[in-house]
Amino acid sequence: MLYDNHGRPINYLRLAVTDRCNLRCFYCMPAKGIDYLPRKELLTYEEMERTVRLMAGLGINKVRITGGEPFLRKGMMDFLERLLQIDGLEKLNITTNGTLTAGLVPKLKAIGINSVNLSLDSLDAQRFFEITRRDSFGTVMQTFHELLDNDMPTKINCVVMNGRNIGDIIPLVELAKGHPVGVRFIEEMPFNGSGENSGSTAWAYPQILQHIQSYFPEIQKLEDGPSSTSFNYKIPGFKGTIGIIAAYSRLFCGTCNRIRLTPQGMLKTCLYDDGVFNLKNLIREGGTDGHLKTALLEALGNRAKDGFETERKRNSFGLPLGESMATIGG
Ligand code: GTP
Ligand code: 5AD
Ligand code: SF4
Repeated sequence: MLYDNHGRPINYLRLAVTDRCNLRCFYCMPAKGIDYLPRKELLTYEEMERTVRLMAGLGINKVRITGGEPFLRKGMMDFLERLLQIDGLEKLNITTNGTLTAGLVPKLKAIGINSVNLSLDSLDAQRFFEITRRDSFGTVMQTFHELLDNDMPTKINCVVMNGRNIGDIIPLVELAKGHPVGVRFIEEMPFNGSGENSGSTAWAYPQILQHIQSYFPEIQKLEDGPSSTSFNYKIPGFKGTIGIIAAYSRLFCGTCNRIRLTPQGMLKTCLYDDGVFNLKNLIREGGTDGHLKTALLEALGNRAKDGFETERKRNSFGLPLGESMATIGG
């Protein structure tokens, strides 16, 4: 098992396989997009597989594939199948925007993907377009239904944006009435690639909860998993559950079990850091598994206590928050 310097077990790797995306969600990228990494700067599939194998041997048993949009990277299905062969890896999950996954779900289920988290910030086609700047609502909904039809455990991720999709909160809650889905509302973080801080405090966890409670006073708290990012709730009679992710208030750092690998191979020990170590460079300089392990253990031995400490450290180097979430992987 891996532990950090605060005694927290680390068993979850978020692996961002590309910084490219075919949507332009307001909270993640500016309308003109971001400067994508040249291909040679991306970790190759072989480099990612080697890293996951090494980490699985050390105690990482859950991997989440993120991006950008993971399915924009060619050969993704083969890569997933190879990861699923790795000893020690118990859960392989995916976070996707659902634009390229309609039609792929039966295969994802068959190869052994454990669950899919789908980004969906509105149930209104016009508002979906205004938020994502692309006309893909129908395709994403097709993916949603295909996930449920194939009994794939599914969560919906909705980023709550002041003045943009507050009217969507209740319709999205109601999605959990007839469907066995976890609908999660996420505080907006300032990782929008525009350099302007727009982390939302107007719609933080308490405001989101009060808003839902005002429509569903019977809502009940559920017990949360040991390293859950979401505070979870149940409304009597609903098939699914409701969650709130206090991502900007950073209320769950105390039990954080996650590390990240960015598309360009930076190891991150906190979402809010600027990357603590470039694993790709070490690999390409001929680093052995022993070197990689030493680097990983050193990074875990220097982990900040929470996202606020990480942010302070970053600021002291003059590196404000603001890169696109597509370069981090969420
Ligand atoms: P599960 O494994 O299903 O619980 O998913 P998850 O919440 O770990 O992953 P997902 O990719 O669905 O992320 C949901 C939201 O939580 C995104 O907005 C992430 O950026 C945010 N999130 C995930 N991990 C962290 C974290 O360590 N810190 C913060 N602040 N936010 C996080
Ligand atoms: N703030 C909060 N969540 C975000 N995501 C992307 N950008 C942001 C942001 N600025 C979420 C998306 C996606 C997940 C990986 O991260 O909802 O589902
Ligand atoms: Fe693309 Fe996801 Fe960023 Fe939206 S949040 S622009 S879907 S990477």
